[in-house]
Amino acid sequence: MNNKPIGVFDSGIGGLTVARAIKKLLPNESLIYFGDTAHLPYGDKSEAAIQAYSIKITDVLLEKNCKAIVVACNSASASAYNLLQEYAGKRVEIVNVIDPMIEFVNKHFRRQTVGVIGTKRTVESNIYSKKLKVLNNGIICKSLATPLLVPMIEEGFFNQRISHDIIDNYLSSQGLADIKALILGCTHYPLIKEEVTNFLEHKVEALDSSEITANFLGQKLAAKGLLASEKVENDEFMVSDFTQSFESSTKLFFGELIHLTLYKLWE
Ligand code: DGL
Repeated sequence: MNNKPIGVFDSGIGGLTVARAIKKLLPNESLIYFGDTAHLPYGDKSEAAIQAYSIKITDVLLEKNCKAIVVACNSASASAYNLLQEYAGKRVEIVNVIDPMIEFVNKHFRRQTVGVIGTKRTVESNIYSKKLKVLNNGIICKSLATPLLVPMIEEGFFNQRISHDIIDNYLSSQGLADIKALILGCTHYPLIKEEVTNFLEHKVEALDSSEITANFLGQKLAAKGLLASEKVENDEFMVSDFTQSFESSTKLFFGELIHLTLYKLWE
């Protein structure tokens, strides 16, 4: 048993979808969330930049004595996870949002074709395709960068005509033809899961990584005897740049309004 907090980080507030799923599954755990709002979006940044930001945030979460760190961002999981493992893997459990999804897809969609949508960084990294290929499961992976979706969601444009049109336009791409499941490869996308599922007419399963990652983390902590023994109430939500608009948007991603504190990481 271990009552230390779990660190969760993302480029901004999208990773709160993962934090919310962790809180729901593991209500005893306390969370320290870090949103690097000074640098969002990560999806358009270079691998080197995302690695530098991720290391710095990991240092903060280690200083806060976290027992585990969840990289709640596909772009950072694709670009920085291996480096973070080398840097801090001996000191803390590190979980990303891609491996739990790979495990799930490998189990449920063998010898089928799956699609992935995500940021430019995630799609250019080809990480889903590479990781599925290594498992030799006959899964074909088709991916498509959908960069308009993050700003669209952050501005609250979903479940309305403009978002239907954008989603329709992306998902009609021939690049995603004949898929059996669609991986929502960005932690912002759970907010449009229903719209995507409706567009796919419920014939293609839309898979979001928030619950899958929370389950994966829960199993990992349980196996290592690291689950909290009692409810610890000291969640903390930090951002590297504060605006009122970030704070208001927390309700969309976390389901309740959260007070964000400014942590100047870059001074
Ligand atoms: N939440 C990030 C991800 O999962 C996307 C947002 C960004 O580009 O920073 O990739």
